Amino acid sequence: MLDQYGRDIRYMRISITDRCNLRCRYCMPQEEQPEETLLDAEEILRLCACAVSLGITRFKITGGEPLVRADCPELIRRLKEIPGVEQVTLTTNGLCLSQALPSLARAKIDGINVSLDTLRPERFREITGRDGWQRVWDGIQEGVRLGIPMKVNCVLLGGINEDEILNFVRLARKEPLDVRFIEMMPIGPGKGWAGVGSERVFEIVRREYPDFAPVSETRGNGPAVYGRIPGFLGCIGWIDAVHGKFCQTCNRVRLTGDGFLKPCLYYASGTDLRALLRRGASDEELAGAMEQAVRHKPREHHFGEKSRDGEAEERNMSQIGG
Ligand code: 5AD
Ligand code: SF4
Repeated sequence: MLDQYGRDIRYMRISITDRCNLRCRYCMPQEEQPEETLLDAEEILRLCACAVSLGITRFKITGGEPLVRADCPELIRRLKEIPGVEQVTLTTNGLCLSQALPSLARAKIDGINVSLDTLRPERFREITGRDGWQRVWDGIQEGVRLGIPMKVNCVLLGGINEDEILNFVRLARKEPLDVRFIEMMPIGPGKGWAGVGSERVFEIVRREYPDFAPVSETRGNGPAVYGRIPGFLGCIGWIDAVHGKFCQTCNRVRLTGDGFLKPCLYYASGTDLRALLRRGASDEELAGAMEQAVRHKPREHHFGEKSRDGEAEERNMSQIGG
């Protein structure tokens, strides 16, 4: 459906839990929500069916870490079966990916993004607070082997993992794997970190691979900009959320684990769909409330503008799901 600025909103990110089995320093250190505040699978699927009726047909399951919810693969399988759903993908930290892959493949998942900020096991522990790099790596390899479209998302942490940019880039050489660098957004503990913008990444990649060139086709649903290196099987991308403001072409809304529909990542505002659900609202009422929220999606974010902090989101990324 079109919002008030004429943007076609057809993509929803759904955080199914704020729990996580890692503790990335820029994301997590906070209390988790009690279980009963989270939407259950039936509630999520009902909201998705309403979203489809509004023309929102592509879904990303995120967290926290979505695979800590045992019903995640089953939820994806059922979501894929809703008539009109065009695509269901998952963003995971990969820690439990190997175990979940057979059921995700059976559910016919359309793609998996794995968040991985380092290729060094000891650094992984420093960033995430836990061991487990090898498990994540094995999950990525197995996903590729199963033919699932896989992406690696690396959040760049100023002074911490910039020295690994080229090592990440090389992952796309022999595997059909897209590697994307994400600029740190000032959300939750992320506010305390220096980000690294795309210009810097571009410069580093270009110096090593002078033939590196932007690709014109759109890949994926989102704001990532991609480039290709001749001979590489995968692409290199950037999500430059703060500096490369892409609000004009934003096509998405977000649903938090506790059922709050957020039209914009930046703003705290939105609609409490859980309250409606648990008050016994009909499908028409739910779809109507969603339509209102989507229609009034704000024009743009104001990250980095101190004077506007009053309207800004105070949830952490683990509650929003990226
Ligand atoms: N800025 C950018 N990305 C973030 N993530 C978590 N916190 C932030 C932040 N402040 C990323 C995770 C994961 C995705 C869901 O969001 O690393 O890749
Ligand atoms: Fe967990 Fe992802 Fe946040 Fe890391 S970034 S703590 S993996 S939700």
